[in-house]
Amino acid sequence: MALALAAAMLPLHAVWPGAAAMAGEAPSQEVFDAAYNLGRSSFSSNCASCHGANGEGDAGPSLVGNALLAKVNVVTETIIHGYSYMPPFGDVLTDAQVAAIATYIRNSWGNEYGFVSPEDAEAAR
Ligand code: HEC
Repeated sequence: MALALAAAMLPLHAVWPGAAAMAGEAPSQEVFDAAYNLGRSSFSSNCASCHGANGEGDAGPSLVGNALLAKVNVVTETIIHGYSYMPPFGDVLTDAQVAAIATYIRNSWGNEYGFVSPEDAEAAR
């Protein structure tokens, strides 16, 4: 009986992680880490000159505890289209790079605003 029950539960268990990874759900730790690490190097070469190596701000505003970062579309649209003195990066960064940088700045220096997907970046173009 216990064996039959365990066998019956196997398919359910196998399906569960797939369901949790559907659009809108939190990504796996691997996906998050890959985006975060790509975002860190891309931020350093494209953004740190104005926003500081640690997001502390310089010519651009500080990104540390910056409440504007809570809104995914504000972050993706600002990176892709620029804003005022900030140049647009839509032509030099892929959706994956925009999403990675957005994920990095939203989850560094004490920020805890969550993951941004390449689909979020694509939607801002
Ligand atoms: C040439 C300098 C410069 C560079 C390079 C730059 N920014 Fe900016 N950024 C600014 C300025 C200035 C603002 C404020 C715009 C305004 O409000 O007039 C800004 C605003 C922002 C904002 C909105 C937050 C706020 O308080 O206005 C975000 C998010 C942001 N930048 C992220 C980035 C990212 C990510 C990169 C790299 C892909 C980047 N910036 C590159 C200058 C820059």
